[in-house]
Amino acid sequence: MTAFPTITLNTGAAMPAIGLGVWQLSEEEAASTVRFALETARYPMIDTAAGYENERGVGRGIAESGRAVDDVFVVTKLNNPDHGYDRALRAIDRSLDNLRLEAVDLFLIHWPLLDDARLVDTWRAFEQIKADGKAKAIGVSNFEVRHLQLLQDAGLTTPAVNQIELHPGFPQLELRAVAAELGIVVTSWSPLGGTSGSGWGPASKPNTVLTDPVIGAIAATHGASPAQVVIRWHLQNGLVVIPKSTSEARILENIDVFDFTLSDVELASITALTSPGRIGADPLLANFGAPTS
Ligand SMILES: NC(=O)c1ccc[n+]([C@@H]2O[C@H](COP(=O)([O-])OP(=O)(O)OC[C@H]3O[C@@H](n4cnc5c(N)ncnc54)[C@H](OP(=O)(O)O)[C@@H]3O)[C@@H](O)[C@H]2O)c1
Repeated sequence: MTAFPTITLNTGAAMPAIGLGVWQLSEEEAASTVRFALETARYPMIDTAAGYENERGVGRGIAESGRAVDDVFVVTKLNNPDHGYDRALRAIDRSLDNLRLEAVDLFLIHWPLLDDARLVDTWRAFEQIKADGKAKAIGVSNFEVRHLQLLQDAGLTTPAVNQIELHPGFPQLELRAVAAELGIVVTSWSPLGGTSGSGWGPASKPNTVLTDPVIGAIAATHGASPAQVVIRWHLQNGLVVIPKSTSEARILENIDVFDFTLSDVELASITALTSPGRIGADPLLANFGAPTS
């Protein structure tokens, strides 16, 4: 296996610092893209979710890649309607069946929703899922400080990971500082600034990160692409990064980022960017897909 950098989780496991995101891929696209990413580009990690409705394709892609199960770090997430203790226990079984796995490396609560009591119940189920060996590590996604505090106050397991929207123009400095204090690894979603016109409704913004002039100038200095510079910025900030692409050329490009280093000044100038800001939904407000019973 190519020696990609890893970050140690609070379970002691090593999580690859880079992987492929597969949001908005159909089952068919997921199968062929995951196979290419694993077999040819040698990605060490795949990030999917029950809500992406492509876990079966991901499972097929993994199986067809010929990679050993232990050689690929697989992340999936609980779909929002499956919040609650019993539903979460059933949901992991469906995901494992879809993915053709006996365990995932990391299972995340996809979205906190607005019901704190149910959220705590869901997290208790996650503790059980880990105890049952169905997820080697458990974590959360889109958790703000108050959600992390809720789990701490309930005396429950500290999540291994918080996967949050994070890219140039939205560096999430405060949430990262709290995660660091708690020993939680941060994964950046929409790390390249997201897909123009993606699924965030009227608020969906075009990708302006990859056309940003500051990033473009740094890319020219290094003979790299803007996407490669942005991926370096995440990695050099100690973040896990999961760029999505369905293009074979860009899948290869996005992992070919280990032959140059950004200077502290370059890192700081990217961190200082203030546009585009948040492009997805606000986890303190969004309750989409919440269970109604
Ligand atoms: N937890 C959550 O709530 C959450 C939310 C959103 C996303 N995520 C995860 O994060 C992953 C990544 O986020 P994302 O899919 O929103 O967006 P992203 O990775 O920031 O950006 C993807 C966009 O960039 C393009 N792209 C990729 N590589 C490129 C390159 N080298 N040069 C130019 N353009 C490039 C892609 O087009 P092509 O495909 O045509 O290359 C696509 O339009 C998702 O797939 C998902 O796994 C999680």
